[in-house]
Amino acid sequence: MASSSRKRVLVGCTGSVATIKLPQLVEMLRQNNLEVRVVVTERAKHFLKDAQLPSDIQVLSDTVEWAAWQDRGDPVLHIDLVKWADVFVIAPLDANTLGKIASGICDNIVTCVARAWDPSKSLLFCPAMNTRMWEHPVTMPQVSLLKSWGYKEVHCVSKTLMCGDVGMGAMAEVDTIVRSTLRALNPWMDQSDLCP
Ligand SMILES: Cc1cc2nc3c(=O)[nH]c(=O)nc-3n(C[C@H](O)[C@H](O)[C@H](O)COP(=O)(O)O)c2cc1C
Repeated sequence: MASSSRKRVLVGCTGSVATIKLPQLVEMLRQNNLEVRVVVTERAKHFLKDAQLPSDIQVLSDTVEWAAWQDRGDPVLHIDLVKWADVFVIAPLDANTLGKIASGICDNIVTCVARAWDPSKSLLFCPAMNTRMWEHPVTMPQVSLLKSWGYKEVHCVSKTLMCGDVGMGAMAEVDTIVRSTLRALNPWMDQSDLCP
């Protein structure tokens, strides 16, 4: 993979409707001089079909990963991505993938990156789910487990959700996610320099 002096952010998207915010997230990360790559679950793809991603952003999925490996010596994409990235930001993290990561399940490119993640580098997760899912008793222990491993939670917020319900579970605002990413990469940075 080509090298650059810019910090590298790997964004992971899962099957939450908040994946529609990916173009905005990618744009704002790039405005802040960050190199970005994107990995998605198969369900996340559904929310990207009309997305306006820059043409040089390849959406990396199981389809790409499995096509890339044909024989010994071929790249194993999820491992290369772990080595490439300085930070992994899972935005949105849906209830299903939260449960999988908490259990150690790694059955797709997003969960494989998470399972193989280098603990010396930051992993941020941005939960996004309906309030009923958020309030299910299984959620908090899973979130706490991820935090006990050193992963950083970017807290979800309360608002009118896409389904019309009002309550906790909406993904944090994009600028909050970008600020958290910059803070994870440069703990000493003056956040007033954030673009735009
Ligand atoms: C329209 C639609 C919106 C959804 N939004 C969410 C969501 O915001 N959060 C969530 O946890 N699950 C949501 N789901 C359910 C997930 O897509 C489902 O659990 C899926 O299996 C997740 O797969 P993945 O974790 O591999 O991406 C939604 C499903 C549909 C059909």
